[in-house]
Amino acid sequence: MGRVALVTGGTEGIGAATSEALGQAGYTVVATYGHDDAHAQAFLARTGIAVRKWDIADFAACAAGVAEVAGRFGPVDVLVNNAGITADCTLHKMDVQTWRRVIDTNLGGCFNMCRAVIEGMRERRFGRIVNLGSVNGQSGQFGQTNYAAAKAGIVGLSKSLALESASRGITVNVVAPGYTDTAMVAHVAPAVLQKIVEATPVGRLASPAEIARAIVFLVADDAGFITGATFSINGGRYLA
Ligand code: CAA
Repeated sequence: MGRVALVTGGTEGIGAATSEALGQAGYTVVATYGHDDAHAQAFLARTGIAVRKWDIADFAACAAGVAEVAGRFGPVDVLVNNAGITADCTLHKMDVQTWRRVIDTNLGGCFNMCRAVIEGMRERRFGRIVNLGSVNGQSGQFGQTNYAAAKAGIVGLSKSLALESASRGITVNVVAPGYTDTAMVAHVAPAVLQKIVEATPVGRLASPAEIARAIVFLVADDAGFITGATFSINGGRYLA
């Protein structure tokens, strides 16, 4: 049995592509999801990849979920914190619930999941964590103060955790995708999205598989010297 990899938001979009790519690379993969049972069951039927449901914004649910996965499949060696939401709105119109929901899910969820796996990784002296940032956390984006703050926060969290974990054989890196062909990006108004694609030198959206490719690279056993890095995969839209 290969190493156990847990991918949050692993049944859709970049997460689904990552779950499948890790499965093909020999990992035992568990994909978490938040809401859509029918979609998750269809993903399981199509791929054979195990699915688990919990809210990553819930600290206790993350701890319980990771413990259950470890009991069933073995300790989690690889964590991909991919799950995230958008609630786009300019700050002058944003209510505090919209702010908190995005921060608690995207940044709080990253903490909750890292916290749930890190002690075991330290004990076993091996771990690979990849946290999903965003081009918009690097560049800022009109209408995304909440999302960009969470994604920028993930970079700070990851760099700090990388420093704390390096001596224990654990790497922590960020993959910061640009606009990718997913349901999340499909919510952006067509006229806005068209301008974004026009301002992207590669001239198109990324495919989820193009992002997953970097994640599989970073979690490999022989990628142990890559830590605290941010991999920008954005078609040249923002050169960090
Ligand atoms: N850039 C510049 N100006 C903009 C703008 C933009 N993207 N969007 C709106 N404006 C301007 C309008 O033209 C208008 O100008 P005037 O007041 O001079 O007429 C003014 O701002 C309107 O401001 P509002 O507060 O009323 O904004 P709105 O409600 O019209 O629009 C929004 C808000 C829908 C969030 C819009 O800004 C938007 O679509 N932003 C982009 C969101 C985006 O890209 N989300 C990415 C989601 S996918 C993702 O996040 C994945 C990933 O990691 C890449």
